[in-house]
Amino acid sequence: MSSIDISNKEFNSLSQLIYSESGINIHTGKMELLKSKIAKRMRSTKISSYNNYLKYLAGNKDEITEFIDTVTTNHSFFFRENTSVQRMIDALQLENKLSQRTFNIWCAACSTGDEPYSVAVQMLEQGLRFSILATDISHSVLNTAMRGVYTRERVKNVPTPLLHKYFQKGTGKKTDYVRVKKEVMSYIDFKKFNLISDPVPCEKFDVIMCRNVMIYFDNTTTEKVINSLYHALKNGGIFIIGQAESLMSLKHKFKSVKNTPSTFQK
Ligand SMILES: C[S@@+](CC[C@H](N)C(=O)[O-])C[C@H]1O[C@@H](n2cnc3c(N)ncnc32)[C@H](O)[C@@H]1O
Repeated sequence: MSSIDISNKEFNSLSQLIYSESGINIHTGKMELLKSKIAKRMRSTKISSYNNYLKYLAGNKDEITEFIDTVTTNHSFFFRENTSVQRMIDALQLENKLSQRTFNIWCAACSTGDEPYSVAVQMLEQGLRFSILATDISHSVLNTAMRGVYTRERVKNVPTPLLHKYFQKGTGKKTDYVRVKKEVMSYIDFKKFNLISDPVPCEKFDVIMCRNVMIYFDNTTTEKVINSLYHALKNGGIFIIGQAESLMSLKHKFKSVKNTPSTFQK
């Protein structure tokens, strides 16, 4: 635990800052977590006084970004909640039989890239044409995503034939790591994007995945996010959320898809 003392007022203004910048709600139960994150940023910025750090944070956009980076939860892994991905790919295959085309997919809140790479290898395996826009608020996770190097633990759910086909095994000191092959990387465009403040791209998507991030938002923020994502989808397009998330009790225009978990349609 950190030795920093935060008054309720300071906690409130910090959580307000996090909320207004990222939509993430940090309640008082997260006080210790927040303190440890501040201590981490103080070490990185070499600022020894907590008050000086707060002043520095208030006047520095880059530091606000770094700070938000440390408080966001980036947990992800390959083939996470893959049933909805498989069903989405089945739907695209059916559509592809009717008219062959390139499918545009947006992984909003893609974290370290595990999600878009998992989608890409399965799309490639089915011979579908596609491009993926993969975005996140955090530049550090995007850097990891663009590097494409992961521990074997992170890829343990990837079926072995796909692991052999689309990843390179590390050697020597890197034996516990794999690297996503360049061919897979070429289908994905990684970009910084804040779901609560950036305007959605002009292009329309066949699929938007926004999984395991809205769980950190309140209803007001989630409603705003899902409604702007709705506009970024093509008519008939597919919207996928995380298994622990729900659109119940929110105002939206999506139709739920029968027998398909966490999946909606425009
Ligand atoms: C738990 S990860 C989910 C990753 C992936 N979608 C999955 O399901 O495995 C949540 C991600 O949301 C990102 N995030 C948080 N607030 C965001 C915002 N306002 N806009 C865009 N991304 C955000 C975080 O940086 C983090 O990488």
